[in-house]
Amino acid sequence: MAVIKKVGVIGAGQMGNGIAHVAALAGFDVVLNDVSADRLKSGMATINGNLSRQVAKQVISEGAKAKAIGRITLTGTLDDLADCDLVIETAVEKEEVKRKIFHDLCAILKPEALIASDTSSISITRLASTTDRPERFIGIHFMNPVPLMELVELIRGIATDDSTFEAAKEFVAKLGKQVAVSEDFPAFIVNRILMPMINEAIYTLYEGVGNVEAIDAAMKLGAHHPMGPLELADFIGLDTCLSIMQVLHEGLADSKYRPCPLLVKYVEAGWLGRKTQRGFYDYRGPKPVPTR
Ligand SMILES: NC(=O)c1ccc[n+]([C@@H]2O[C@H](COP(=O)([O-])OP(=O)(O)OC[C@H]3O[C@@H](n4cnc5c(N)ncnc54)[C@H](O)[C@@H]3O)[C@@H](O)[C@H]2O)c1
Repeated sequence: MAVIKKVGVIGAGQMGNGIAHVAALAGFDVVLNDVSADRLKSGMATINGNLSRQVAKQVISEGAKAKAIGRITLTGTLDDLADCDLVIETAVEKEEVKRKIFHDLCAILKPEALIASDTSSISITRLASTTDRPERFIGIHFMNPVPLMELVELIRGIATDDSTFEAAKEFVAKLGKQVAVSEDFPAFIVNRILMPMINEAIYTLYEGVGNVEAIDAAMKLGAHHPMGPLELADFIGLDTCLSIMQVLHEGLADSKYRPCPLLVKYVEAGWLGRKTQRGFYDYRGPKPVPTR
């Protein structure tokens, strides 16, 4: 079984910085890559802030924070990931972007290294087939926010071999997370169940059954969800929500998964939720205000 010591993370967005955070804290050397220098900078600032919060809550020591920060290297080029033992891709949820990343990565990554994708919905088998090592390719699907959420879904592609699966399982255990094994079907387990609920909440808004506040209050107080579905959609990112619904719709060819036109409209406007300061809520003021 592969020994994992050095981990590459491609994409320094909300998932990438979370994965780099938990991996560094667990003692792995981490190389964090992004095409955007700004995202690398803001990703590292987020890691720093989140580690400080853990220190303040006495979850970790100041020394553990300093060690974790010291284990993370930032890079704008994939070449610096060449000697990683495991590379986790967590760039945007667009298949053509991921395919191009794997194409470029395979050209430089040592042959024995494992590759994982944190995709929320795209077929692991299909992504694996674009690489030179489908047997050493696996889905490691983290939950957001990574430092807080206990679960990781592990998804084997058709060609993933046992030693890759075992190495991924051991890696996730070292991060202190629990594993749920999912078969390789669109959106796996969590998003297969969660995303149609969020999409239905957006239909409920679109059809005027309730406004943003009523829908979120209904599910928080009436179903004891910690966040309302529209608040949660903003947290996940509306572009990611739309991509997952499209994968479900196309992959399962069932009209019950059709993305709500209102979700499409928000994404077309560039109102992607918290990360762009506007989605179903406007986050630019002191407190979030519903946009409808
Ligand atoms: N948001 C969630 O709740 C969630 C949960 C689990 C998994 N995911 C998955 O994680 C992935 C990332 O989602 P996110 O929410 O972090 O998105 P995000 O928009 O916050 O970050 C994506 C990052 O990828 C970078 N990027 C784009 N193209 C790149 C390339 N070619 N090389 C390197 N970096 C590149 C962008 O600059 C950006 O920083 C997606 O596949 C998504 O489905 C998201």
